[in-house]
This record gives sequence, C-alpha cells and structure tokens, in this order.
Amino acid sequence: MEAIRAMKVEDLPNIMILEKNLFRTAWEEEIFIEEIELQYAYVLEIKDRIIGYICGWKLLDEFNITNIAIDKKFQRKGFGKRLVQFIISKLISENCFKFFLEVRESNDAAKLLYEKIGFKLIGARKNYYHSPQENALVLGINLINNIK
Ligand SMILES: CC(C)(COP(=O)(O)OP(=O)(O)OC[C@H]1O[C@@H](n2cnc3c(N)ncnc32)[C@H](O)[C@@H]1OP(=O)(O)O)[C@@H](O)C(=O)NCCC(=O)NCCS
Repeated sequence: MEAIRAMKVEDLPNIMILEKNLFRTAWEEEIFIEEIELQYAYVLEIKDRIIGYICGWKLLDEFNITNIAIDKKFQRKGFGKRLVQFIISKLISENCFKFFLEVRESNDAAKLLYEKIGFKLIGARKNYYHSPQENALVLGINLINNIK
C-alpha cells in the first residue's frame, strides 16, 4: 500500500538516485533542501521505499509545481497522477487555486499526465532548458470555479 508524506533531508540519498536516473539535468541536493524548507515537498512510498516525489512553491493563491518524478519501474500505474492530485487537494485546503508548471516541449509523458488532470497550455519560454537546450511549455489550471 502506498503512502504520501512530507520529504525529509534523510530521504535525499534515495531521492538523488531517482533524480539522476530520471532527468538529463538532475537537481542538486541543495535544491531539494530548499524545497523541504519551503514545506511543499512530498514523497510517495510503497512499503517504505520511495518511488516518487513532488515539489513546488506557493506564492499567495498560486502554486508552481517545480518537480515531479516516478521511479521508472513504477510509471504508468497512476502514481504521478496521485501525487499531483494530492498536492492540488492540499493547496485547495489552503485557499490556493491556481497551479502552474514548466515542462520540456518534448516531454510527452509529463504533458499527457498534466493534460489528463486538466492543465491547459498558457505559453512558452524559449530556450528555457539547457543540456539539451529546449523550449519550455507553461501549463496552468485555475480551480477556483471547481469549489463547491
Ligand atoms: C511524468 C511522470 C511523473 C508520470 O508519472 P506516472 O506515474 O508514470 O504517470 P501516471 O501513471 O499517473 O499517468 C497518468 C496519465 O498520464 C499519461 N501518461 C503518463 N505517462 C505516459 C507515457 N509515458 N506515455 C503516454 N501517456 C502517459 C496517461 O494518460 C496516463 O494515464 P493512463 O496510464 O491511464 O493512460 C513520469 O513519466 C516521470 O517520472 N518522468 C520522468 C521525470 C519527468 O519528466 N518529470 C516531469 C517534469 S515536468
């Protein structure tokens, strides 16, 4: 059975292994430490093994998802969607309804995941990424009207 909990500094050795396997330009450990301090960093565990994580920043009523990853062996099982839905629910409970993120133009898996949740294309940032250089698509969703 899986569980989502706050990321801790002690998780970083395991997270760095996943991060390096999953991204061509992996985050440094220091960036994760900052995200933990900002208090919107979560891991998804199955039987005490971290198989994914999500991070972001809140600014007033807006939230920027800065990172999400699922261990390759556990992809396409709904865990990525579970993490995004978890963070959305948490932020809605804090009266934060607008969500944004940047994604590499070629990252079809992430684009399809966000599309499935309801994110729409808002814009693009030319050559936003390096190694390799690539445009970012900016996706967003405003859930203010979904609140009953
Ligand atoms: C993007 C990522 C987090 C998706 O995680 P995941 O757990 O595999 O995603 P889910 O199983 O929740 O997928 C939800 C939906 O997204 C779409 N999707 C996700 N991955 C897909 C893929 N490789 N191909 C096609 N559609 C995909 C599907 O519509 C899927 O629903 P379905 O399986 O019922 O068809 C994962 O591929 C990953 O870690 N990639 C490497 C890191 C990365 O690029 N992160 C994003 C940075 S912005």
